[in-house]
Amino acid sequence: MKTIVSGIQPTGNLHIGNYLGAVKNWLELQKNNEYQLYIFIADLHSLTGKLSAEELNKQTKITIAELLALGINPDKVTFFKQSAIKEHTELAWFFSCVTPISELYRMTQFKDKSEAQTKNINSGLLTYPILQAADILLYKGDAVPVGEDQVQHIELTRDTARWFNKKYKTNFFPETKHLLTHIPKIKSLLEPGKKMSKSLGSGHVIELADEPEVIQKKLNKAVTASEGGNNSPGAKNLLTLLKEFGSIEKYNLFVKTEKDGDIRYGDLKTELTESIARYFAEFRKTRDKLLNNPEKLEKIMIHGAKKAKKIAQKNMEEIRKIIGLT
Ligand code: ADP
Ligand code: TRP
Repeated sequence: MKTIVSGIQPTGNLHIGNYLGAVKNWLELQKNNEYQLYIFIADLHSLTGKLSAEELNKQTKITIAELLALGINPDKVTFFKQSAIKEHTELAWFFSCVTPISELYRMTQFKDKSEAQTKNINSGLLTYPILQAADILLYKGDAVPVGEDQVQHIELTRDTARWFNKKYKTNFFPETKHLLTHIPKIKSLLEPGKKMSKSLGSGHVIELADEPEVIQKKLNKAVTASEGGNNSPGAKNLLTLLKEFGSIEKYNLFVKTEKDGDIRYGDLKTELTESIARYFAEFRKTRDKLLNNPEKLEKIMIHGAKKAKKIAQKNMEEIRKIIGLT
């Protein structure tokens, strides 16, 4: 049985980039009984950012509720909070002792985040991928479904397994692969040269929980061909979204009018607004219901942590033996 592991930081509401790049894959993979899935809220990773304790607490609940509302099934998937399993941080320390520091400085996410938060370049930002490798290898993850921006971290996870296995003359850790969806990088609405990301600001992303009026407003401001020339990245991005969320007939129609040069972007934006709002209508209702039932969310997390802990403790016992700590 293959083990699949992935996580998401509770730093903001889920957006369509998260959905199309990662979460949609999780939902597909959970249907397959040949996979053992571990999905967790990467709350420890989010401590490298600026959230207050209250914000972290609130946003964690929202992320749990949103993933459940999308269809993550806690009976099929081991669904838990990273901070509930202390072995993640313990293994991260072991890994930090086999990881050359120069490899961490190469990470593009570290470079980007250091530029974005110049007043808070904490050492967690640098060692972030070590904790991510621990998240994955603690469960001996064979594959990790993520968006394109995370591929470098998964490559480092593979290297970490090699460094560890070599140092301790073992083959305990597998060489993890990344799994991408067919659209691993959705672009920002306002700066289609960049990936859609919460950290760019709310106007750049469409959140799954956005009401139709909000989606329309954001799309109205989205950059299209009029600013970027025909076949611009912005227009392409919107067409990709229509293909995912709307009808294939409408998609074909807009592709044709775009080619012919008589596309009306206002019409495309309205069609896309309706499609996205419809696609997530049920989600919005379920999300609100779940958020009104924090006890249920808590119970689900306790159940998931119990399942994760069993494997984490068993593997950690073996890892300690391999290292010579017993
Ligand atoms: P953000 O950049 O908005 O903070 P996260 O870093 O929390 O998003 O990403 C969570 C998951 O969603 C990761 O697997 C990441 O690769 C994926 N993801 C994030 N943004 C996008 C995007 N624009 N397109 C595709 N996948 C994305
Ligand atoms: N770094 C990932 C992100 O920002 C979140 C994450 C933490 C993760 N640990 C992980 C993803 C392990 C996959 C596997 O999106």
